[in-house]
Amino acid sequence: MDKSLLLFVGISCFLLINGVKVEDCDFLTETDNTRFQLFQASVPEEQPYRTAYHFQPPKNWLNDPNGPMYYNGVYHLFYQHNPHSALFGDGMVWAHSASYDLINWFSLDHALVPSEPFDAISCWSGSVTILPGNKPVILYTGIDANYNQVQNLATPKNRSDPLLIEWVKYSGNPLMTPPKGVDGDNFRDPTTAWQGPDGTWKVVIGSYSNNQGMAILYQSEDFVHWTMHRDPLYSASKTQMWECPDFFPVSINSTNGVDTSVANPSVRHVMKASVNPHDYYIVGTYDTEQEKFLPDADFTGTSSDLRIDYGKFYASKTFFDSKRNRRILWAWVNESDSSEDDIQKGWSGLQAIPRQIWLDRAGKQLVQWPVEELNNLRDNQVYVYGKQLESGSVFEVSGITASQADIEINFELPKLEEAEFMDTILVDPQLICDRQDSSVTGKYGPFGLLALATKDLTEQTAVFFRVFRGDNRYVVLMCSEQKRSSLRDNLDKTTYGAFVDIDPRQEMVSLRTLIDHSIIESFGGEGRTCITARVYPKLAINNEAHLFAFNNGTLSVTISSLHAWSMNKARVN
Ligand SMILES: *[C@@H]1O[C@H](CO)[C@@H](O)[C@H](O)[C@H]1NC(C)=O
Ligand SMILES: *[C@@H]1O[C@H](CO)[C@@H](O)[C@H](O)[C@H]1NC(C)=O
Ligand SMILES: *[C@@H]1O[C@H](CO)[C@@H](O)[C@H](O)[C@H]1NC(C)=O
Ligand SMILES: *[C@@H]1O[C@H](CO)[C@@H](O)[C@H](O)[C@H]1NC(C)=O
Repeated sequence: MDKSLLLFVGISCFLLINGVKVEDCDFLTETDNTRFQLFQASVPEEQPYRTAYHFQPPKNWLNDPNGPMYYNGVYHLFYQHNPHSALFGDGMVWAHSASYDLINWFSLDHALVPSEPFDAISCWSGSVTILPGNKPVILYTGIDANYNQVQNLATPKNRSDPLLIEWVKYSGNPLMTPPKGVDGDNFRDPTTAWQGPDGTWKVVIGSYSNNQGMAILYQSEDFVHWTMHRDPLYSASKTQMWECPDFFPVSINSTNGVDTSVANPSVRHVMKASVNPHDYYIVGTYDTEQEKFLPDADFTGTSSDLRIDYGKFYASKTFFDSKRNRRILWAWVNESDSSEDDIQKGWSGLQAIPRQIWLDRAGKQLVQWPVEELNNLRDNQVYVYGKQLESGSVFEVSGITASQADIEINFELPKLEEAEFMDTILVDPQLICDRQDSSVTGKYGPFGLLALATKDLTEQTAVFFRVFRGDNRYVVLMCSEQKRSSLRDNLDKTTYGAFVDIDPRQEMVSLRTLIDHSIIESFGGEGRTCITARVYPKLAINNEAHLFAFNNGTLSVTISSLHAWSMNKARVN
């Protein structure tokens, strides 16, 4: 591979070996040592919890995804990063990575680091907007020298640089400071801006004021001078501080995404608010004349509020991918071990696998699915068809790397009318999952997968379903139970649970689960309900990890199909 050279010509990229073009840069190779920081971390050798195909920095702290975009042939992801520690702290930067496929990534120089009075302490979260003429700009929150939150603008130093490595902060920053009635520490995380029918730019900032969580609306003609609109775009009394708001249109009849400025009868709008520690959203109509968001229903502050993910998943942010006409969601998944563990590991925080999102056909909720590029890592497929799982049975899915896998499974329930009766109106699904965990026998369920398990099942993470009969309908419950995920103590082993909005008379109960050493991302009902968990097995690591399907209900279920793959390692940073 000597005399090899990676070339960027305009927006295309290819590898030259001895002067011969050999491949397009779907992903980059080690040969490009000059422009990218290579992995030089001093993290310990033994790293059973580092992931193989999830996004994480070489070392230290990561939290919110920032400014994801597709620009001139390249996907960009910026992220909140503490370059000095495995823990959160002052001095947060916008770290920057780029990719050609959303799965393989290479690190670039930090895009924004604290340097000016308007971001002296930290460069916090924000978004990218691509202005007409293909001009990307960043709006981000600076923590100024007085620890106040202000909104700042930055632009690429050279838009012809395909990797947009250098960013220049606008000299007139800050553009927005906390308005009257808003505390200096409750004013952050600008969204991607959108353009109204009259050409005016709009952006919302997360806040909390007058006992309401809210998205404060600002408008601008030139993207530099911003005025606050009289009312927030939306506020909700049943919520606390809104972090990382996201506001975007979704097509009413297509899984395709649309640009953030689209507002017409073919779309509905989604308002997402990160209210620690969960990402909640509402679906509704955006009235561009009144500058009001009119949701079908308000946030209730109860377990019936829709969440992007019902496990560990926060600060999500979407962008419109113009390459493939889809909307993609990124999110931070934090650790479930202790700060001491993180210092020892030398790192903390992952990004979930980017998900394509769209509105379900009923128009009620989002549907999410891992971007299809992930499938390129699949290897070594094993499959099972038409296997009956009797009451109490456990069977091993062998032939794959169980610590690094992708599984799709469909369950058939032949005697639905025999399911237990349940009235769902008053029950918190997470509570049912916790009380009726995988060891509690029901009729239909618990059945599902045991991931990152030891051979003897002393360690196991159970991702499972229960199906109940309600009034004139069936209720499908999905759980991710971490109680027995590790023999280690001092871990957050909270059980997660949510209902899955499917009718098991019409479709099979389906599950897709991504397993990657210390993260388990599960998609129930073809992506209608998602649950992400972090687990740290003591014994079920690397080649000691096993995968099983199980049924602990009294009624047998049939695995109509199971496909499982070992996942190859991605090249991440
Ligand atoms: C901008 O980037 C392009 C492409 O990398 C390069 O050819 C050009 O010289 C750069 N311009 C400046 C002013 O650095
Ligand atoms: C989706 O709905 C829009 C607006 O009602 C309509 O114009 C368009 O043809 C529809 N597309 C499909 C694929 O049904
Ligand atoms: C991160 O994880 C901890 C412990 O598992 C949890 O209590 C906390 O709420 C999480 N933070 C966020 C922002 O998700
Ligand atoms: C199934 O139920 C039995 C009896 O409660 C329990 O011992 C076993 O651990 C359960 N299996 C799983 C996978 O939870």
